[in-house]
Amino acid sequence: MKNFTSVYDIDNLQNIIAKALKIKENPLENPTKGKGKTIGLVFLNSSLRTRLSSQIAAQNLGLNVLTLNAAQEAWNLEFADGTVMNGDTVEHIKDAIGVLNQYCDIIAVRCFAGMKSKEDDVNESILSQFLKHAKVPVISLESATRHPLQSLADCITITENWTENRKPKVVLTWAPHIKPIAQAVGNSFTEWMQRMDVDFVIANPEGYDLDKNFTKDTKVIHNQDEALKDADFVYVKNWSSFEDYTTMPKVEENWMLTNEKLELTNDAKVMHCLPVRRNLELSDEVMDGENSIIYQQAKNRIFSAQAVFSEILDELK
Ligand code: CP
Repeated sequence: MKNFTSVYDIDNLQNIIAKALKIKENPLENPTKGKGKTIGLVFLNSSLRTRLSSQIAAQNLGLNVLTLNAAQEAWNLEFADGTVMNGDTVEHIKDAIGVLNQYCDIIAVRCFAGMKSKEDDVNESILSQFLKHAKVPVISLESATRHPLQSLADCITITENWTENRKPKVVLTWAPHIKPIAQAVGNSFTEWMQRMDVDFVIANPEGYDLDKNFTKDTKVIHNQDEALKDADFVYVKNWSSFEDYTTMPKVEENWMLTNEKLELTNDAKVMHCLPVRRNLELSDEVMDGENSIIYQQAKNRIFSAQAVFSEILDELK
């Protein structure tokens, strides 16, 4: 694996899930695999899980870890080419990446959607600069349109929780929020579920359909109750309108996941990538209930990251 920015960087999904589950059994099995190598974790946006799970995963492999909370700690970055930098921006992203190349054997970056220009976000205006200017492997810690380490952790979690001899029904259901949120988690989960042996359905209100380039032939249902029927896994996540970019079309029904709605399912396990707004996206009773596998999902972020770092290290040898 040269870079890791989407499911398309994985040769065999089942193999990497199996690898991650093996790592989970003994995370310190290869404590010197990354010895003498450095990973830079660059955060242009906030994080709890991605930052900490990536640090744990890297340390488990013996990698040196440099974490840069760039939005708070670094110079104000310029992203546009050819700009006369006589304003607020102090350092061009090209130069920042040029320097990271000198310090790091792997560069991992979090660069959310700017939510200002649909074109910039769809074209991954920041991640593409890392892919263009980095001289070392690049790992996405969530970009404008995808969150691949989260999606791999989600696949690991579903695999761990499914023992029946049939395909599980997995429902990605939209949830309410107070402000416009990007589609990255929903897009990414969709792409990875299309590669899993599951019956996958997306439920969202009218006006909230994800980008067709991600949903492709996946069934999209605008009635949450209908979608939840007989579900084995329910993944809760908000996103704003893709079509009318960054807007939040009015939704009459209450899409918050409650225990009452869970009764429509096949005693479904509940997932969320976190952070979650309790009693808005899903109720306290669901979050704290026995069907929630949300903390297990968060724990699996370590093994998702460790499996990917390990594959990238294989390429560096
Ligand atoms: N799920 C996730 O990516 O969490 P953080 O934003 O806290 O890293």
